[in-house]
Amino acid sequence: MSLYYSKITGWGHYAPERILTNDDLAQMVDTSDEWIRTRTGIRERHIAAEGQATVDQAYHASVQALERAGISAADLDLIILATSTPDYLCPPASSMLEDRLGASKAGAMTLIAGCTGFVYGLATAAQFVQTGMYEHVLVVGAETLSYAVDWEDRNTCILFGDGAGAVIVSRSHTPGGLQSMILGSEGSGWDALIAPGIGSHAPMTVETLERKEHKLRMNGRQVFKFATRVMTEAVTEVLSDAELTIHDVDVLIPHQANARIIDLAVRRLGIDKDKVIINLDRYGNTSAASVPLALAEALDSGRVQPGDTVVMVAFGAGLTYAATVWQWQPETADEEPILVTNWPVPETMRVQAQRVRTAAWRLQVQARTKASDAAMSLMLPLYTFRKGVKKRLKK
Ligand code: UT7
Repeated sequence: MSLYYSKITGWGHYAPERILTNDDLAQMVDTSDEWIRTRTGIRERHIAAEGQATVDQAYHASVQALERAGISAADLDLIILATSTPDYLCPPASSMLEDRLGASKAGAMTLIAGCTGFVYGLATAAQFVQTGMYEHVLVVGAETLSYAVDWEDRNTCILFGDGAGAVIVSRSHTPGGLQSMILGSEGSGWDALIAPGIGSHAPMTVETLERKEHKLRMNGRQVFKFATRVMTEAVTEVLSDAELTIHDVDVLIPHQANARIIDLAVRRLGIDKDKVIINLDRYGNTSAASVPLALAEALDSGRVQPGDTVVMVAFGAGLTYAATVWQWQPETADEEPILVTNWPVPETMRVQAQRVRTAAWRLQVQARTKASDAAMSLMLPLYTFRKGVKKRLKK
């Protein structure tokens, strides 16, 4: 049981200066701005400068988050750095960040859960502060994917970008903060997004390097199918756990992988698109940095307001997924402590009514998902047939 509440008191984000547009990519591989925009929603992405690595980016975002929270690095109890592109396999990038920040009393861990890493980190940080163990935890998502992609593989290089986002999760006496969370993994899909030639299973050799096995490879369609399914399921589940429905949500922050994945989830969940934060057109998929980058931008632009219900959802390599529900607290200093057990103090009738609403909404989502799955399975043979005819006509 929680003794305290968790509160996001600071946030920051960073993206390298250099921008790579779709037109730039069309000069490098057989693709076009039109294909990338219509299939993914991405227009451009940021690319790290020569010698700029993940900890450099994480550092900039973390400094902003510390400033916003009004604390110094020496106040941090723990640093969780989510990344799939650490500066080195050993040592952990989190310790390098701890050193750069001067967070001398903080523990530090690097969390690898693909694009889901930041949401996993956020849920982990909240556990530490809600039990009273720690007061301030820095959670960062940072990636330098530009070094991990094969710039000759059009299936992957058009998707990814570099960047970082960070938050401070602090202990609070004021009700709010994390309401519910879901952490999931479908490990049977471990090879759908993989750098096959790095690690203890396949140590690097000249041959593996020549075959570019240290670069990312992806079964795009498999990840796409997984993503559209789990995004809907995870949001439904995490809201149900908080006894809320999509109508209670003010802001949805999804992992920024593909606008089509987000669109499908938006339709299935029945959420107003204006409530969904999308910035992938400017950053591409920044993996573990994508959710904190979008969150920090949403906070900076005032799209998240005190009292708002905010849902964050992510999916990625592993295959992993996670979702959290937050109630955004007013930025007032903690005064009178309110015991967790005394809040909320709902009347039985209201709770019952809320449960009925949640159950009814879940049924609606299931029905919409079934309908769109059926429509897709009807359209797919038609699409494949049309593609076949087009190909034959071309010949
Ligand atoms: O953070 C988690 C990580 N990853 C993801 O979330 C990615 C999930 N998957 C996706 O977003 C999509 O599957 C992609 C954007 C990667 C691909 O879109 P798609 O609609 O699934 O395309 P496809 O793989 O079915 O390929 C369709 C066609 C193929 O040509 P043929 O076989 O029909 O002749 C591809 O070779 O498009 C071709 N293609 C391209 N054409 C131009 C693939 N990549 C490109 C490209 N430019 N960059």
